[in-house]
Amino acid sequence: MTRVFDEDLEPGFGTRAIHAGQRPEPLAGAIMTPIYLTSTYVQDGVGKNKGYEYARGKNPTREALERNVAALEGGTHGFAFASGMGCLDSIMKLFRAGDHIVCGENVYGGTSRLFDRILVNLGLRFTYVDTRYPDRVADAVTPQTRAVLVETPTNPMMWIADLAAMREIASRSAALLIVDNTFATPYFQRPLEFGADVVFHSTTKYLNGHSDMIGGIAVVRDDALAEQLKFIHNAAGAVAGPFDAWLALRGTKTLHLRMRQHDANGRRIAAWLVDRFDEARVIYPGLASHPQHELACRQMKGFGGMISVDLGTRERADRVLERVKIFALAESLGGVESLICLPAAMTHASVPPERRAKIGIGDGLIRLSCGVEDADDLVADLDQAFEGL
Ligand SMILES: Cc1ncc(COP(=O)(O)O)c(C=O)c1O
Repeated sequence: MTRVFDEDLEPGFGTRAIHAGQRPEPLAGAIMTPIYLTSTYVQDGVGKNKGYEYARGKNPTREALERNVAALEGGTHGFAFASGMGCLDSIMKLFRAGDHIVCGENVYGGTSRLFDRILVNLGLRFTYVDTRYPDRVADAVTPQTRAVLVETPTNPMMWIADLAAMREIASRSAALLIVDNTFATPYFQRPLEFGADVVFHSTTKYLNGHSDMIGGIAVVRDDALAEQLKFIHNAAGAVAGPFDAWLALRGTKTLHLRMRQHDANGRRIAAWLVDRFDEARVIYPGLASHPQHELACRQMKGFGGMISVDLGTRERADRVLERVKIFALAESLGGVESLICLPAAMTHASVPPERRAKIGIGDGLIRLSCGVEDADDLVADLDQAFEGL
């Protein structure tokens, strides 16, 4: 756990992105945080040290990242993990056998896999609900509910959960509100400001932004919750390595610039797709035709580069996936380069087919992660890939 420097919460977002959590290194004044490749720290005597004992507990490179992202989210404590899933797994260790968690039914496939194939065996209980509808979330909450977990926008259906309503519902049962903010990033949405207790990310995605590491991060505001997570972080040990932390930290320095371009490209491509197909097939919260566009405008400052398109059949989807030249067929998202995937067979293959069908993740649904290349080139690439469809 690392607590933010209070003064880092004052400047604007771009200034925080570049400077928060980082101070010139004391030995030579290096402006970039060094990568502290060490497992342990020499002590002057037993119990006499410089605040660092063993690197699972604390590492200065990791601390810089934790402070940086905590400041971007408007939180006070950050915890960097070895992956987004490692982060979520550690968050779930806040709970005990018998506890009930209400979870969005359209979450990243790996999230429901962790819950349904591992954590249920340890006695946690999960109910999946469509978090577009606060009433359904409220109906699912029981006296044993200890957390409401939402992704917003969701992967890959771009459903929006009303964060203020989720807060209110979770509070009725003294449950934590946990938000996966991977798609929106703190540049466009800050769940803690809506009362979320824990916000987390796969830093593998937009925060790093360069597709060159795997990581996760959690941010909280409450000191008591931070102490609990600090214990789990060290005791369970799924911590981020220093080199990955450094790569993510380099990524966050340009988060504001990249997100503006992802958003501009996302809007342009979504508008082009609507012209090309009918609007019912193009799913992007920035489109006025998105059923929750108004809510998205209320709680997000932009919409980013994630778009899903329903092409109807696997054959049509395969044709596009085979023909694209700039968009690369790959899992993951949020990097500077554009990616395309087929969620039903890739990112969400672990979701049971009946749940996929209910959510609308059909065999013809493709997901675009629009990168920051020139929008004209991306549109031209899709144009040639969609030819004849
Ligand atoms: C929304 C979301 N949350 C969490 C994860 C898991 O993160 P990681 O792959 O870093 O473990 C992913 C991965 O795709 C994701 O898309």
